Amino acid sequence: MESHAFAAAPAGSPRIESLPVEPLLTSEFDADPGSVYERLRRTHGPVAPVGLMGVPVWLVLDYREVLEVLRGESQWRRDVRHWRARAEGRLPRDWPLLAGYEVRQTMFLDDDEHRAARLTYHSAMRPFQDGHTPVGWETRAAVARYADELIAMLAAESGTTGFADLAAQYTRPLLLMVTTKLFGCPVELGDEMVMDLWRMLDGGPDAGAATARASAAMTRLVAHRRAVPGDDLTSYMLLSDPSLSDEQLGRELFMNAVYLNDITGNMVCNTLLEVLRGNASVRRSLSAGLIGETVNRAALVSPPVANMCFRFAARDVRLGNYWVRAGDVVSPSVAAAHHDLLAIGTSHIVDSTISTRAHLAWGAGPHQCPSAARELASMIVSTAVGRVFDHFTKAELTLPPDQLPWRAGPVVRGLRLLPVRYELGEQSSVLRGRIPAPRSGEEPVPSPGHADDGRVGGLLAALRRLMFGTRRSQ
Ligand code: HEM
Repeated sequence: MESHAFAAAPAGSPRIESLPVEPLLTSEFDADPGSVYERLRRTHGPVAPVGLMGVPVWLVLDYREVLEVLRGESQWRRDVRHWRARAEGRLPRDWPLLAGYEVRQTMFLDDDEHRAARLTYHSAMRPFQDGHTPVGWETRAAVARYADELIAMLAAESGTTGFADLAAQYTRPLLLMVTTKLFGCPVELGDEMVMDLWRMLDGGPDAGAATARASAAMTRLVAHRRAVPGDDLTSYMLLSDPSLSDEQLGRELFMNAVYLNDITGNMVCNTLLEVLRGNASVRRSLSAGLIGETVNRAALVSPPVANMCFRFAARDVRLGNYWVRAGDVVSPSVAAAHHDLLAIGTSHIVDSTISTRAHLAWGAGPHQCPSAARELASMIVSTAVGRVFDHFTKAELTLPPDQLPWRAGPVVRGLRLLPVRYELGEQSSVLRGRIPAPRSGEEPVPSPGHADDGRVGGLLAALRRLMFGTRRSQ
């Protein structure tokens, strides 16, 4: 690891360990993180010391400072070995967030190693990026098809007018179907992996074991695709860097599976919510076909990665009103920074002509979401949201927006459920028999006639059990 000449903080400037810190994860934070960010900003300025499950962390709140941290690669390191408290053995032994940071994959690499890993991504993901390549076209078509199939399944289960949880019964299965397609999962591995990712995202009692199994399944998937290459991300990653071991690529795929299912899924739900909660300008832009603008708006109001991954200071540095010491940990809060942008017109950063594209939901600087991944995710979100409003003539929330339950957690801002009352349009193509109604009990949904449908038909059946199973047993 490189060594640095440390610029010393002035004697007497407080260390984070000596400051009183307010715990970040409280019921107030779950219900209304915006007011917590505002209070911290009023008390401390652009950077605040907070407690994260007993560990003190600098939370970066202002847009300017967040950008500075995200862009400043030589000062703000990603490799967890730069973390002083960890190196000195001062972290609680079973601190819940540490395990994730110990996994060596692209997000936690620096410098040349990091640049090489990103190049692998760029060339492996490029074919999926747009609709001009066969695999790009097929991916786009598959996302739309899966969305239609799930809406058809909803109609078959709950009727053309009914109630649905668009998080559990639409978004989550859709993203799991896209994942198995994109990763090139064979049937046996796909079903098993999907079930485990589902359990992992649920965060229930078996989530830990499910995570370990899903991660092992990724490694087996890589071994399989090394032996039998296909038109999928796993095979393209191997083509792009044949030196990747099964375990290494398995770790990368696992991280991508989280981005695809958890982060992209939350972006779908957060965008659906933006439209459903009836903001007039959002509905106007959607009906004018400006779905990208709607997605940007949702990314600004509720960025799914609310607080970015940790960065570790390479040298003592002044940030906001404090001196951050070499080896201290900081978390740039994109959600807090967006408050500056939301105050458009009065903000010192932006004027009223700035687009919602100034949001930082994709990150910024050398670790920002790779462009091909952004394109892919944007396509998935736009298609998923677009298909809902194409098929449903009516969709309204069954709970007031301020009573919707959000997931607790320091990183992701996501809805637990998105309950709606819907009405399917009479002209909707899903009513024209694309998927026959399920017959009774747990019978599998027959597979429609597409190239990959042997796999997807079986997967749909497994997903149907997960989507409707709970309700049946109630
Ligand atoms: C709407 C969906 C998505 C959002 C909002 C999103 C957001 C982000 C953000 C904020 C980061 C940077 C994190 C940081 O600097 O701490 C990131 C990195 C990354 N994302 Fe995405 N992402 C999305 C979808 C995806 C998808 C679908 C993939 C791949 C299939 C993906 C692959 C990656 C990778 C590989 C990185 C690590 C880049 C690096 O460290 O150099 N993302 N993403």
